[in-house]
Amino acid sequence: MKDDLINLKNQAIAEVSEVKDLAELEQIRIDLFGKSGKFTMASKEIVNIPVDDKKQYGIILNEVKSTLEGLLAEKKNELSNAARVWFDPTMPAKKSTLGKLHMVSIAINEIAEVFEKIGFTRMKYPEVEYDYFAFGALNFPENHPARDDWETFFVDSSVHSKYGPMLLTPHTSSGQIREMLSNKPPIRMINIAKCYRRQSDVSHVPMFHQFEGLVVDKDINITNLKGTLDHFAKTFFGPNRATRLRPYHFQFTEPSFEVDISCNVCNGKGCKLCKEGWLEIGGAGMVHPNVLKNCGVDPKVYSGFAFGWGVERTYMMKSGLSVPDIRLLYSSDLRVLKQL
Ligand code: FA5
Repeated sequence: MKDDLINLKNQAIAEVSEVKDLAELEQIRIDLFGKSGKFTMASKEIVNIPVDDKKQYGIILNEVKSTLEGLLAEKKNELSNAARVWFDPTMPAKKSTLGKLHMVSIAINEIAEVFEKIGFTRMKYPEVEYDYFAFGALNFPENHPARDDWETFFVDSSVHSKYGPMLLTPHTSSGQIREMLSNKPPIRMINIAKCYRRQSDVSHVPMFHQFEGLVVDKDINITNLKGTLDHFAKTFFGPNRATRLRPYHFQFTEPSFEVDISCNVCNGKGCKLCKEGWLEIGGAGMVHPNVLKNCGVDPKVYSGFAFGWGVERTYMMKSGLSVPDIRLLYSSDLRVLKQL
């Protein structure tokens, strides 16, 4: 009988040491000291103990009882303290760091605002597009190098019978086609969107942004294009800046131009940052008659202009940021992003 009591104590000590919460501990207490608990039953056994052994059995009973009660109380204390959350209302609050918009998001908002104020409507078109809208309808010949998969990301091996394979838009000009197919002139839209090209070096990222304007109406001519670009340059970059058009070639505009903006470092005199006082900024031109025809717009009645510039490079020119590698903008490195 004495051995049973010692075993009961040792088993209870082992169980209590494993307990993780107060409910579990309470269950052990009931199993020991409850109405039909193990200890309660063992203490009732004293009536069956021979008279000579009764005294010693009673001493052991008391010793086991006080050990177990002490153990349960100690464990209860320990678990209650752990559950209590320490809270000091006088402690200064943790400072949370305020985030901010990425430089490209700020640029997109500012660019959109300039054009919306002069009546352009901001539009959205598919970012995953058919070859036809990105190239075919824009007058690109079948074998143009931009249509090669070394230049463009093709995303689907299945080919649409009319529109060809699917791709990630390599420029925002596909929006010109979508716009003219779904809306009749007069059109005055601005499309700011992601573009994708297989390019990656200090001045190229595989995913970048362009903003593209399209105006189609009766009697639209180059002076309207030049006036719009000058307005943008002066509003966005500052009143002393001007643009110049240089003859160039794009498949979907005729005539086509590269657009330069006067250099703010040398004020047009010429320095090591620019080419004789001018910085190259993007493409523009009068919408090609074939493109108008592909969209059901009569080139004898309507004419239009379009321009497409890179958001990242345009904003870098405005802010005067000299980012040594354009890919840093998308590197998610806080040491860089905090400076932008
Ligand atoms: C075009 O993409 C023409 N669609 C622009 C256009 C629209 C011309 C409407 C006429 C009428 P281009 O490939 O040059 O043109 O790109 C225009 C601008 O996008 C560049 O000047 C540059 O600022 C930006 N850009 C092009 N590729 C990248 C790249 N990989 N990374 C960052 N910016 C880029």
